[in-house]
Amino acid sequence: MTREPAQTTPPSLARLPRHVAIIMDGNGRWARTRNLPRPMGHREGVKAVRRAVVACRERGIEVLTLFAFSSENWRRPKTEVSLLIELFVHTIRKEIDELHRNRVKVRFIGDRGAFDAKMQTLMAEAEQLTAQNAGLTLVIAVNYGGRWDIAHAARALAARVQAGVLDVESIDCDTLGQSLSLADLPEPDLFIRTGGEQRISNYLLWQLAYTELYFTDLLWPDFDDAAFAEALESFARRQRRFGRTGDQVEQSRRA
Ligand code: FPP
Repeated sequence: MTREPAQTTPPSLARLPRHVAIIMDGNGRWARTRNLPRPMGHREGVKAVRRAVVACRERGIEVLTLFAFSSENWRRPKTEVSLLIELFVHTIRKEIDELHRNRVKVRFIGDRGAFDAKMQTLMAEAEQLTAQNAGLTLVIAVNYGGRWDIAHAARALAARVQAGVLDVESIDCDTLGQSLSLADLPEPDLFIRTGGEQRISNYLLWQLAYTELYFTDLLWPDFDDAAFAEALESFARRQRRFGRTGDQVEQSRRA
């Protein structure tokens, strides 16, 4: 009987996702368990954002997409909404130069129209400054919802039909997909949600169609490098079939 050669490469390095998308949940509970106000949980969450960015850069992951503020987060108490927006603005201002030095390309997705001019300018400037960077692409979803993304794409296609530059018959999954927020990037390979809930919460609904889902009970501020490595190892162990059989996948892998 022949023995399998010993695996020397850690699975996380053997098969790495190109694109990781994260829902950073559990900041409030992290604070509550320490008898701290919720804002402290969000501030601690920013440290975990930094760690995730470094982890992706160091491993050569191409895209990291973070759900910073969903279109449903407006339903939170006004004080918490203001704090989240302030924290977001403060973090971008504080981190943008270092992100740029590290060749990170920053991009925002979501409906920006709801934010004031100052915040819209901040986002546009951060994107312009880092546009030519060839390292990690960091996508930050703000006032983003998966349904909004699809509706927005449908509206763009309808406008092109109305302008006479697109035939209704030529609209298919490709044309719709090409009108979505992340059309120019690889689709997420790995989705991570911290905080114990097992749902997608109107995140990248279209783009997650074939994404491997990974849920952890860890609260976002506790999500450290070891936890990230564990998620990557879980990803590396999975067989992605995209509708094919397991045998077909094995055959094409050996070919
Ligand atoms: C969910 O925890 C977290 C959020 C709604 C906000 C996350 C935002 C940050 C960590 C700041 C990001 C900043 C940048 C620049 C990317 P929760 O409040 O729902 O926690 P809970 O479920 O325990 O209440």
